[in-house]
Order: sequence, then structure tokens, then C-alpha cells
Amino acid sequence: MAFYDHYNYQRYWRGREYEHEAEIVALEKLFGQIPLKNRQTILDVGAGFGRLTPIYANRFVSCVLLEPSQKLINQAKRKLQYQNLEFKSGQGESFQLKTKFDVVLTVRVAHHIQDLPSFLKNINHHLKDNGFLILEFANKTNFKACLKALFEGNWSFLKNLASTDRRSPANINQETILFLNHHPVKVREDLKQSGFEVVTRLSVSNFRWPILKKFVPTGILLRGEKILQLFLAKINFGPSIFILAQKQ
Ligand SMILES: C[S@@+](CC[C@H](N)C(=O)[O-])C[C@H]1O[C@@H](n2cnc3c(N)ncnc32)[C@H](O)[C@@H]1O
Repeated sequence: MAFYDHYNYQRYWRGREYEHEAEIVALEKLFGQIPLKNRQTILDVGAGFGRLTPIYANRFVSCVLLEPSQKLINQAKRKLQYQNLEFKSGQGESFQLKTKFDVVLTVRVAHHIQDLPSFLKNINHHLKDNGFLILEFANKTNFKACLKALFEGNWSFLKNLASTDRRSPANINQETILFLNHHPVKVREDLKQSGFEVVTRLSVSNFRWPILKKFVPTGILLRGEKILQLFLAKINFGPSIFILAQKQ
């Protein structure tokens, strides 16, 4: 049974409208950079209940949603009304499809992946020549994490390319699903090693601070996202980094 079969992922999104919309802002920008000739087929790896499907369903002729949790696949089938969707069960590291895609999207999945190069190589194999990948990963070196490391006197934090395991000791003991924050330098190396060249990077959910979310209207935070995502990626500021990369 997949982890998300017994987790209420739809409920997770209640109260996270800002984070969801910040991701939409980023995806609008990245899809806007993909040429029209590369807009036939898209594969969403770890599609969940299809939260992001409305952003791409009308941009592509056909869309495949790959997901290990049958519960989430069933939710997506019930919720999504588009005619151009196909659903597949599978894991990012090991799925095998006969089709090659123009674009692969994978958001909020890399934090469950230990062996990122294998995951990226399998995706690369399923892309057409010069196809595009939109990859989101949880950023180990986000501003808050750097501040914490500074206070703890952890001077090697930035240099250490190993991913940070975000699970509690109890969850590690019970071997629950991984929650890894990846180092941006390592992700860039893994992308290169897996046959990708980075086109654009965006820093997303930059204002995910409880005090800001409480007192600043979401519309203003999102305006900040629109303006700052590109710049803040240069300093790996936010908790989430979106990358547009092209198959070499
Ligand atoms: C946090 S959810 C994100 C879902 C969706 N991409 C979104 O942004 O709403 C993580 C998803 O990744 C899926 N997942 C977990 N391990 C995976 C793997 N090895 N390969 C592909 N998907 C995986 C989970 O079942 C879950 O649907």
C-alpha cells in the first residue's frame, strides 16, 4: 500500500491557498517558456489527486497522470472533468511507458526520493529529444534553514551537499515515507549527470511565514511572488525551488 493511500492529502491543502497559488504563479511562468511545438504530451509524475492538472490540461493535447497511490488516482478520476487525461500507476524511479513526452512535470515528489539521479534518468528516458522537465524540490538551504544553522553554529551546513531528512525520530524508526530537503547545488549536479540543462530557476512560497500569512493579504504576498521568484532563486531563498530544464 502506498503512503498516500492512508493520508488525507486533500485536507493538507486547506489553509494553504497562498502556497498553492504561488506554485501556480511559478508554473504559469515556466509553461510560458515552453515552445508551442513542445505542447503535445505531458506526463505528471506523482500527480496526486490532480491538484495541478487544471494548469496543464488545456495546454496539452494529451496528459498522463502517473501516481503510486490508487486512492489518489481514484480521487483525481472523480474530480477532473477533462477528456484528454490518462491515469497510470507507478513510481518515478521505475515506471516504464512506451510513449515519450514533450514535457514531464513533477512537483512535491522529489522530497520522497532518495536516489534523485535514478529518478531523473528515468524521466529523461521518457522525454522526446529536447523535451522539457519541470522539477520542484524542497530546498535544504532556504533562508530559514540557513538562519537556524547559523544559530546552531553549524558552519558546514551550506557546504554539505547531503539532503536533510525532515522526518521525526519516531517516523524514521517506523521507516515512514522519506521527507528530504535537497541541496540546490546537488540537484543541479544530478540534473546535469542525468542529461539535463537548467533553463530557468524560480524560488517559490517565499513568504511562507505564519506571521506574514496571518497579517498580509494573500493577494499582496502573491504579487511579491510574481515579482521576486526569479531574483530570489539566485540566492536560494524560498523553501521550494522550481526548475525548468531541457533534455540534452
Ligand atoms: C506531496 S504529494 C504531491 C502531489 C502532486 N504532485 C501535487 O503537487 O499536488 C506527493 C505525491 O508523490 C507521490 N509519490 C511518492 N513517492 C513517489 C515516487 N517514488 N514516484 C512517484 N510518485 C511518488 C505520492 O503518492 C503523492 O501523490
